Amino acid sequence: MPSLKAVLAEIVQEMAAQTDRGTVASYIPELARVPVQHFGIAVATADGQVVCAGDADTSFSIQSISKVFTLTVVLGQIGDALWQRVGREPSGNAFNSIVQLEHERGIPRNPFINAGAIAVTDALLGESLPREALGSILSFIRFVAGDERISIDKDVARSEQETGFLNAALANFMRAFGVLKHPVEHVLGVYFHHCAIAMTCRQLAMAGRYLAFSGRLPASDTSVVSTDRARRVNALMLTCGHYDQSGDFAFRVGLPGKSGVGGGILAVAPGTASIAVWSPGLNQQGNSLLGTLALERLAKAMQWSVFGA
Ligand code: DON
Repeated sequence: MPSLKAVLAEIVQEMAAQTDRGTVASYIPELARVPVQHFGIAVATADGQVVCAGDADTSFSIQSISKVFTLTVVLGQIGDALWQRVGREPSGNAFNSIVQLEHERGIPRNPFINAGAIAVTDALLGESLPREALGSILSFIRFVAGDERISIDKDVARSEQETGFLNAALANFMRAFGVLKHPVEHVLGVYFHHCAIAMTCRQLAMAGRYLAFSGRLPASDTSVVSTDRARRVNALMLTCGHYDQSGDFAFRVGLPGKSGVGGGILAVAPGTASIAVWSPGLNQQGNSLLGTLALERLAKAMQWSVFGA
């Protein structure tokens, strides 16, 4: 087996040479300012190490990757009752699509498409105020990453709040069907702010460890969630984490993964590693173009695919 450090160095070199880097998201104006040349990768392993390469210590907007953490927090609060409001099937549609919602009476297909994540955020609001709900997500992420510096980029949140018409449509639709219980402005306020959390690859790889190591943080052996819960979140990441590219991601990379339009991807090699990669240019489906390629290279070199070496 080659050394992880050497594999990451090779990947950084290969990615630097790529001329087609995808397109930086522009529907959230603040994200359009991020230079497309960035590339970073970090891998947290069972022995407590984090091996990094490239721009692994530069913060980026985690966007939809935050949906993994909100889902974990909500499952901790209400458990399986969540599945009355959100499905667990891949949608085969774009992350911001509204088409299935009418047919399926306002119940989103899964917790990772925007409609599903907005429904999860509504569940998280429960009896609490928007700022308390947001505080619970941020505290959870800081705890699993072991890093109190992680915070919300207010400019990104504001930018999305000003242009989030599609999400407002999805939220209003679900509210009309009674799937959302709280005022749409409250739900979207929390949703836009958790999407605007900024993290580095190093912090994100640390934050994903509980998914890679059966619900526990390996070095300190602290329990975060049950083994069953970690396994199920991983299953959802594998089947739904890349929207209408989830099949292709499983085919090429073979790991549970969750993307964000900031160009980050969190991927999990169960029992072995938590991986964060960042390259801001996106493909057609809104997932990081080079991030996916880098994970494909890494999983192959290290024989980490869940489907076999
Ligand atoms: O709601 C949105 O559109 C964004 N805050 C998040 C979308 C996203 O990251 C899709 N992922 N690739």
